[in-house]
Amino acid sequence: MENLIQDIEILGEGRIPTEEVKTTADYNSGNKRKLYIESYGCQMNFSDSEIVASILHKEGFDTTSDIAQADLIFLNTCSIREKAEQTVRNRLNHINGLKKKKPEMMVGVLGCMAERLKTKLLEEEKIVDLIAGPDAYRDLPQLISQVDEGSKAVNTFLSREETYADISPVRLNSNGVTAFISIMRGCDNMCSFCVVPFTRGRERSRDPHSIVTEARQLFEQGYREVTLLGQNVDSYKWSEEENNKARLEKIEAGGVVNFANLLERVAQIHPNLRVRFSTSHPKDITDDVLLAMAKHENICKNIHLPVQSGSSRILELMNRGYTREWYLDRVKSIRAILGDECGITSDMIAGFCTETDEEHQQTISLMEQVQYDFSFMFFYSERPGTLAAKKYTDDIPLEIKKKRLDEIIKKQTELSTLRNQKDLNKIHKVLIEGPSRRSEDFLQGRNSANKVVIFPKGTKKKGEYTNVVVESCSPATLFGRIID
Ligand code: SAH
Ligand code: SF4
Ligand code: F3S
Repeated sequence: MENLIQDIEILGEGRIPTEEVKTTADYNSGNKRKLYIESYGCQMNFSDSEIVASILHKEGFDTTSDIAQADLIFLNTCSIREKAEQTVRNRLNHINGLKKKKPEMMVGVLGCMAERLKTKLLEEEKIVDLIAGPDAYRDLPQLISQVDEGSKAVNTFLSREETYADISPVRLNSNGVTAFISIMRGCDNMCSFCVVPFTRGRERSRDPHSIVTEARQLFEQGYREVTLLGQNVDSYKWSEEENNKARLEKIEAGGVVNFANLLERVAQIHPNLRVRFSTSHPKDITDDVLLAMAKHENICKNIHLPVQSGSSRILELMNRGYTREWYLDRVKSIRAILGDECGITSDMIAGFCTETDEEHQQTISLMEQVQYDFSFMFFYSERPGTLAAKKYTDDIPLEIKKKRLDEIIKKQTELSTLRNQKDLNKIHKVLIEGPSRRSEDFLQGRNSANKVVIFPKGTKKKGEYTNVVVESCSPATLFGRIID
């Protein structure tokens, strides 16, 4: 089981949706009060926790990795599937035990579950003192004072403007080599299964100037890879006029910076700074983005392009805005512009409302056609308030959902092995992230396609690039040796 978790963690990093948990690292600058944050769900939450740590650091909090030392415990939560919420409730139960021993400990719930349940969560989970939604983190100092004074505190207002653009995140759990940068917040798509538009609010893009500055500062501090994050990066849009800020020279048409422009701006910071991004939306990804990737060696050749289903009828019910044919056409463009070596990864949902066995088979056949390198795979979990919960019946029995999911996982494992075998005996440029988890004598990094590569360390160090010839592989990892 532990191996499995490790593998999932390795594969999960750099991609948006996982069910992994991250806790804060120690950050001690002599501040008196100690903050412990546990983050669930996607990379956006992990990135938000770094903003929270930054805001509270100025308020006299240091972070701790030891929950027992904490004066303030924050759970930054996820609502994407029922299981994600259940995990948080179990965790609150456990924290209840700790609070009995240390009653002055303050407990706050942040993120998507806070936003979805609002004050209901205070009624349901008596241990919770503070609730703050994803757009309310600037208000945390005030909310904490309210709790200090003996009352419960709640702020779940969603904003149309907040991007935390001016807040320099405290990098938690950092390897010092790779970092995430939020480029936008919220989501304006209404995929019928998805709770995110309700928990994260309207889509808004962050000032490109602040993104480029953050990426440049990271590079100057020794970081060598940034991942630009958003629920749908292809709809990134910044208009000088709308935002009334003439900070950027207007080289892009009409003063509008789109995602392809932004990618190029970040890629131009330095050839040794790798750029990744997630998540691309099949209905919005443009050839301009693919051409920008082809033009810059340091934009990594990997696209996370979640399909969800291989059936056009199910995609329509999901309100995804594309058909199977459209999706396959986008994949054709990726292959034409970026070649076979570009990694393509996906998310899949098994057993959505009314899905027939034949439609499930269409998902399997699409997977075969695309030859995904990796996928995050889930069975459908109905979320209250979503379009699907209102309009359709969650009518596929759990055992059938699980059976279909198993088949999808089996197919993906087969495809991952196949794709990894294509990497054998080839030379890969790897950015070294640190020692391998299993042995200090080995280093671990990623190739451009985001695959984990493990090799004997030689004289190389983390943060350096090295050429590795791949000699063997598992479905999740490539193994090789340095050749330069
Ligand atoms: N913005 C991204 C996805 C974010 S949520 C996109 O549009 O692709 C991450 C993944 O969780 C989704 O791609 C989907 O596969 C899965 N997911 C979302 N809601 C779900 C639900 N109700 N049940 C099961 N899986 C779900
Ligand atoms: Fe959810 Fe769809 Fe938005 Fe992704 S694009 S976050 S699946 S609503
Ligand atoms: Fe992310 Fe989960 Fe919210 S996937 S956006 S933390 S619902």
